[in-house]
Amino acid sequence: MGFKTDFLWGGATAANQSEGGYNKGGRGLANVDVVPTGEDRGPIIRGKVKHLAFDEDHFYPAKNAIDMYTHFKEDIALFAEMGFKAYRFSIGWTRIFPNGDENEPNEEGLAFYDEMIDELLKYGIEPVVTITHFDMPIHLINAYGGWRNRKLVDFYGNLVTVLFNRYKGKVKYWITFNEINMILHAPFMGAGLVFEEGENEEQVMYTAAHHELVASALATKIAREIDPDIKIGCMIAAGQYYPNTPNPEDVRKAQVDNQSNYFFVDVQARGEYPAYALKELERKGIEVPFVEGDKELLKENTVDYVSFSYYSSRVSSADPSAYESTSGNIFPTIKNPYLERSEWGWQIDPLGFRITMNELYGRYQLPLFVVENGLGAKDVPDENGYVEDDYRIEYLQKHIAEMKNAVEEDGVDLLGYTSWGCIDIVSASSGQMSKRYGYIYVDRDDAGEGSLKRSKKKSFDWYKKVIASNGEDLSN
Ligand code: BG6
Repeated sequence: MGFKTDFLWGGATAANQSEGGYNKGGRGLANVDVVPTGEDRGPIIRGKVKHLAFDEDHFYPAKNAIDMYTHFKEDIALFAEMGFKAYRFSIGWTRIFPNGDENEPNEEGLAFYDEMIDELLKYGIEPVVTITHFDMPIHLINAYGGWRNRKLVDFYGNLVTVLFNRYKGKVKYWITFNEINMILHAPFMGAGLVFEEGENEEQVMYTAAHHELVASALATKIAREIDPDIKIGCMIAAGQYYPNTPNPEDVRKAQVDNQSNYFFVDVQARGEYPAYALKELERKGIEVPFVEGDKELLKENTVDYVSFSYYSSRVSSADPSAYESTSGNIFPTIKNPYLERSEWGWQIDPLGFRITMNELYGRYQLPLFVVENGLGAKDVPDENGYVEDDYRIEYLQKHIAEMKNAVEEDGVDLLGYTSWGCIDIVSASSGQMSKRYGYIYVDRDDAGEGSLKRSKKKSFDWYKKVIASNGEDLSN
């Protein structure tokens, strides 16, 4: 009745937030390497800052992150000790193609992922690989303008061809773009976009979105030619928008907000631009840069599963003055009086998780995969690095219980659950280390100081028990 016997329990990270080693192994510079912490970060990730220069002496959190580049064996051993069945990580594009537009890949970069994948397989852990997670070569931004340029589709095609050939028979689950809908909210991270003064930003974002959607379909096509066993997933930052009141105006606003997220999955899972999006884009005078063959490519290469992150639900109102925004939320929302919030203002809604899963499964009828969920919180370790993180356990308990309801009671087909930041990593929105999600504490602070020592938190043993019982025992 519960989760399938081969349910993929595990954790997730991303290269840019964990690997570090920014100048090792022939790696090129990536967009995320030049993003600082603090108040400069927001405008940069929204594509508002031009001429981003890399200053060797400046502190950028992604540069060294938690140095998984050298610690990965130790970290994977800890994941194995927790009983992980799957580990989701991402490929640093600049390790494989340092500039992005080369013809030949960087062998040293591939060798790193060879070792990492083999290490996972040694423990029987299924690698779930995100091809791009908010990162891309800075050269592709400076020389081509990022994903606004159609050429990126070819460069991405080269990247995936190398990866699918290299890891044929070893990696089954791939995700083309992390949170593809983030293009509309953090376009520098999502698509390497830096806006010019006075340009139509929405036009640029939807142009980039089209190129990523085409690239995702192209990747799916290439994957099936190389290895028919590969499963390709799309991935969105999910979280249902609720209407603020039963006023039909609010209900309609919530519907439109939900559609702005579904748009991406509609294309990737159903293979064509949905009518509501075409109409909306037409009304706004936005042109989608279709070229010959795009429509067929999208139609013939839809995804095998729908993966998503879930942290929070959101609330929509037709009244703009109702938006007394909750800080820390990248997506527009107003405060939900029925929900508590995390220290970073993210609304905590376990039942919203079940609601979101039902919406996605009902709409697409494809297997779902929860590839991110968790609580970013401040942890205070004792002298041995031990953290009594009951607050994190409570968050996860409630969310996993609702995920179980969605499977058992509602019949949602679910492949797995990889909670976010299974080891503490750098926060994507804030660049802080102090916003921690992990079962494993990493000694490093917001200024990049610390020994990088890994230690188990209380949640480590708790999650181990959850996995061992296949989600039946959630007790603390
Ligand atoms: C998702 C991203 O948006 O949320 C991750 O895919 C990110 O990269 C995660 O880290 C949590 O957000 P944050 O800002 O707390 O790190």
